[in-house]
Amino acid sequence: MISVIFVCLGNICRSPMAELIFRKLAEDRGLALSFDITSRGTSDEEEGNPVYYPAARVLRDHGIFGTHRATQLTKKEVVNADYVLVMDSGNLYDVLNLTGGQFSDKIFKLCSFTSRPRDVADPWYTRDFEKAYADIYDGCEAFLNYIVHKHGDMLGYDSRH
Ligand code: 4NP
Repeated sequence: MISVIFVCLGNICRSPMAELIFRKLAEDRGLALSFDITSRGTSDEEEGNPVYYPAARVLRDHGIFGTHRATQLTKKEVVNADYVLVMDSGNLYDVLNLTGGQFSDKIFKLCSFTSRPRDVADPWYTRDFEKAYADIYDGCEAFLNYIVHKHGDMLGYDSRH
């Protein structure tokens, strides 16, 4: 079992989108049971709130469904995770601030796994939820390919999927 925490600022837009997209991609490849997938925010601003409606709508438009309640990331969760995937440089700074600079070897920007490393711009400010979806989907697909390549044996991966 590989544990993955997706992290953004509020945990109502980008990281829950990543959680639900990644779960769908893993399911489609027969790997749902190989992962423990969740999402968190660096801030407690939105604590307890559901996925922001425009983010939920863009997911639904792409056939992805699910729910999440915003929860702030703790240091203990970082300690216990295999991978902590943040959306942008600000999130990276905040997570490393939380850990006192520790565990940097398992904290990555999601789109660093793609052929075009970049931040996932915050749609709370850009209002471009389709762009956020496309960037997050690209990052999740690239990360899943990386995991299958790196941990294929451990996942019992069947290449026919
Ligand atoms: P997220 O977007 O980090 O992608 O969930 C945001 C949601 C809420 C706020 C900021 C960013 N906010 O300031 O409330």
